[in-house]
Amino acid sequence: MTIKNDLILRAARGEKTERTPVWLMRQAGRVLPEYREVRSKMGGFKELVETPEFACEVTIQPVDVLGVDAAIIFSDILVIPEAMGLPYQMLEAKGPWFEKTIKTENDITQLRIAQSHDLHYVMDAIKLAKKELNGRVPLIGFAGAPWTIFAYMIEGSGSKTFSKAKKFLYTQPELSHQLLQKITDSTINYLKGQITAGADMLQLFDSWAGVLSHEQYKEFSLKYISQICDAIKDVPFTVFAKDAHSSRREMGKLNCDTIGLDWTMDIPESREMIGSTKTLQGNMDPCLLYASYATIKSETIKMLRAFGPDRHIANLGHGLYPDLEKEKVKYFVDTIKEFRF
Ligand code: CP3
Repeated sequence: MTIKNDLILRAARGEKTERTPVWLMRQAGRVLPEYREVRSKMGGFKELVETPEFACEVTIQPVDVLGVDAAIIFSDILVIPEAMGLPYQMLEAKGPWFEKTIKTENDITQLRIAQSHDLHYVMDAIKLAKKELNGRVPLIGFAGAPWTIFAYMIEGSGSKTFSKAKKFLYTQPELSHQLLQKITDSTINYLKGQITAGADMLQLFDSWAGVLSHEQYKEFSLKYISQICDAIKDVPFTVFAKDAHSSRREMGKLNCDTIGLDWTMDIPESREMIGSTKTLQGNMDPCLLYASYATIKSETIKMLRAFGPDRHIANLGHGLYPDLEKEKVKYFVDTIKEFRF
C-alpha cells in the first residue's frame, strides 16, 4: 500500500522533504484523555498491550488527535523478556516488576530465544493498525536495545543506578555476553516479525545507555546493537540511546539510518560526531512543553534551525510526561508542521 504522508520515511533515507516531519516518543497513551478512557475500560496496561483491537485504537489516537507524521505501535519493550521466559507486571504508579530475575548460568540456559509468533498479539496489533491507518502515515515498530532489556532482566524493576545489572557485567562478563546474545537473537526475530506484519520503520530504545562507561557501552551494548542493525534490512532503522554522549562517534558508524538524540546533546556537536550520512532525530526537552505557548514556539523554531532542513526528524529528547497538557503538545507539533526554512 502506498503511504500518503511518507515524510518521515523520506527524511530517514536522506531525501529532501517539503518540511521537517515530527512524531513523539511515548505519544501513544499517557497525555491523551482518549487513552485514559480506553485504559479505564481494561483490566490494566498489559491487557491493553495484549488485546490487538485496543492496542490498535491507542496507536491511532495520536495521529487523529495530535496530527503527528507517524504512528508507533502501542506495546512495551518488556514483551521480549516475557517471551523469553520472564513475565513482567506493570504496577500502578510504580512501573515494571519481574517476579523472576536472572542470577545464575542456569537461569540464562533456561531462557528461550523468542520467535515472532511468541509475540503474535503485537503482530496482530501491527496488522490491524496498518489496516486502520489505511496509508495515512507510516507505522513505527520498536524494541528495547539488548543492554536495556538485560538491565531489567537482572534488576527486576526500574532503578536509578542499575547497579545490580552493572555488578553482573563486572563479575560475570562471560555470562553477561551469553545473555546479551540471547536477547539480541530474540530481538532480531521479533523485529523481522514486525516488518512482515507491516511495520514501515523501526526504532531501538537504549534507555539506560547512560549508566555505562564508554568502554562498557562499546563492549556490552554497541556490539549487540550493531548485530541488530546488520540484520535489519528493508525498512529505515533508528537507534535512540539516551545519554550515550561518549559513543556518538561509534553510533555514526552503525548500519542504521537515523540516530536519536536526547535533549542534553548539543545539536551541531552531535552532527559533527555522527557525520552527515545519518538522519538525526530529536531532541526537545519534554519539559519545554510545560512552558508558555510563546516559549514553546520560539524554542521549537530554534531547534529546527539548529538541525537545518535536511536529515532531521523532529521529536522530543525522551518520552512525553503524563501530566503535560494535550493542547501544548499539539502546539509543539503544529509549530513544527507550519515552519518552513
Ligand atoms: O511511544 C509510544 O507511545 C509507544 C508505546 C511505548 C510504551 N513503552 C508504552 C507505555 C513505548 C515505545 C515504550 C518503550 C519503553 N518501555 C521504554 C523505552 C523508552 C523510554 O521511555 O525510555 C522503557 C524503558 C519501557 C519500560 C516501561 N514501561 C517503564 C519504565 C514504564 C513505567 C513508567 C512510565 O514511564 O510510565 C512503562 C509503562 C508504560 N509503557 C506506559 C506506557 C503508555 C504507562 C502505562 C500506563 O500508565 O498506562
